[in-house]
Amino acid sequence: MMGSSMNADPAPCAGASYNRRGFVSVASGCLLCGLVTPSARAGTDRPIDVGTLKDYPKDEISEKYIQNDIFVIRHKGKLFAATAICPHQRGYLLRDPKKPTRIICASHNWRFDAEGAITSGPEGKDLERFAISVNDKGRVLVDTSRSFQRPNWDDKASFVPFP
Ligand code: FES
Repeated sequence: MMGSSMNADPAPCAGASYNRRGFVSVASGCLLCGLVTPSARAGTDRPIDVGTLKDYPKDEISEKYIQNDIFVIRHKGKLFAATAICPHQRGYLLRDPKKPTRIICASHNWRFDAEGAITSGPEGKDLERFAISVNDKGRVLVDTSRSFQRPNWDDKASFVPFP
């Protein structure tokens, strides 16, 4: 079966090799985290602190929180968090090292632009975004329990505007 050889689920923590999620699980001391699927982890009820707005001084696809399966992207006056899990077969997405304004999936070569819109692959398979906000201490928080598909990318909860 086609999907079984390309399974992107994390390796069990007891294994000798770790993908980025398994590594984070071990590093955080949560052995059970490495046993759940990315979709289960994406629904965490704990916001991810991704720093302050000053940590994003220019337009960029940041991989700093890739271990949380998100990109934090500053693009054209907005800061948003997009999934780093491919909508095809849940492969791991990365910023293209040859073209850092692009996101790629090494599994089957789907590509996405800096907004998370698909540019190479089936139409409509854009990257979902997560709720993002700035708290009263100036910390930028990403809430992966709330997501936004492309028709809702203008929702004010899906981005933080830059002045
Ligand atoms: S998993 Fe197939 S293109 Fe990403």
